[in-house]
Amino acid sequence: MLIRHAPDLTEAHVTPREAYLDRRSFLLGSAGGAITVGLGGAVANAAPLSGAKSQYSTTDKPTNLEDITGYNNFYEFGTDKGDPAAYAGKLTTSPWSIKIDGLVSKPATYALEDFVKPHGLEERIYRHRCVEAWSMVIPWLGFQLSDALKRAEPLSGAKYVAFETLVRPSEMPGQAAYFPALEWPYVEGLRLDEAMNPLTILAVGLYGETLPNQNGAPIRLVVPWKYGFKGIKSIVRISLVDKQPPTSWNKENANEYGFYSNVNPEVDHPRWSQASERRIGAGLLAGRQPTLMFNGYAEQVASMYTGMDLKANF
Ligand code: MTE
Repeated sequence: MLIRHAPDLTEAHVTPREAYLDRRSFLLGSAGGAITVGLGGAVANAAPLSGAKSQYSTTDKPTNLEDITGYNNFYEFGTDKGDPAAYAGKLTTSPWSIKIDGLVSKPATYALEDFVKPHGLEERIYRHRCVEAWSMVIPWLGFQLSDALKRAEPLSGAKYVAFETLVRPSEMPGQAAYFPALEWPYVEGLRLDEAMNPLTILAVGLYGETLPNQNGAPIRLVVPWKYGFKGIKSIVRISLVDKQPPTSWNKENANEYGFYSNVNPEVDHPRWSQASERRIGAGLLAGRQPTLMFNGYAEQVASMYTGMDLKANF
């Protein structure tokens, strides 16, 4: 199912962050929350959202909203690319809470609004590279994960950050399946320095609106130099830990999916060469384009891996 984007949504229609937060609080108090708000929102429940421009944005042309919201991986809703758009609309994302715990001085459970409120939002237009060898360019709206982590005050023993997605089989048909595609909850992890890198963000929106459910509403991780599966969706828990945490695809098949999963054209996946990629929406004539080391973000991230064998640590 494709979702139509209102052609007339312009910057002028985008309301400031405070108004968005008020709107969410308003929705919280309303029956069911199943309300389509705003000025020709692209997706049911979407609210307009805006963010400051960022030095980290690419000048690559953003992929169409229809492709970004119609061609997804979100196995909690099924394994076909169209399943998230077809089934994620039922997910209740308000109210939503996030727990931050583990090796921090200030563990807490926040209502989403309170978790987001202290942070100024930025628009980050990032390349998004899936291990299946396709790519997109997505104008995310979010804030740096580092800022949220600093607020919790990590203790000196914290070496990694672990993330967890919601478990709610009543609204996530893939979790209710007799033969589930993955073990739930979906879990992911980063080394602490990767989590603190300025490129790593928590996204709460894209294309000037709150995040569509199929893209991981209400809050998901975006790590643009890693394969897309590191970008865990619909996060309910962030834990600071001292050991490398388990990750969903590594648990599923450790030979195919490593912990690091940095985009690397020289390290092939057993089923997909990673040397090149298909840019979704570029048209049949566009052909494939070469994949860049660290997805083109080497300048910002390569130094974190100095001296590491990136073939062994794939
Ligand atoms: N997060 C959860 N909870 N469940 C998933 O199945 N799929 C991952 C990642 N995050 C996934 C997830 C994969 S394989 C990719 S490529 C990206 O989400 C896709 O993000 P997109 O649908 O916004 O493009």
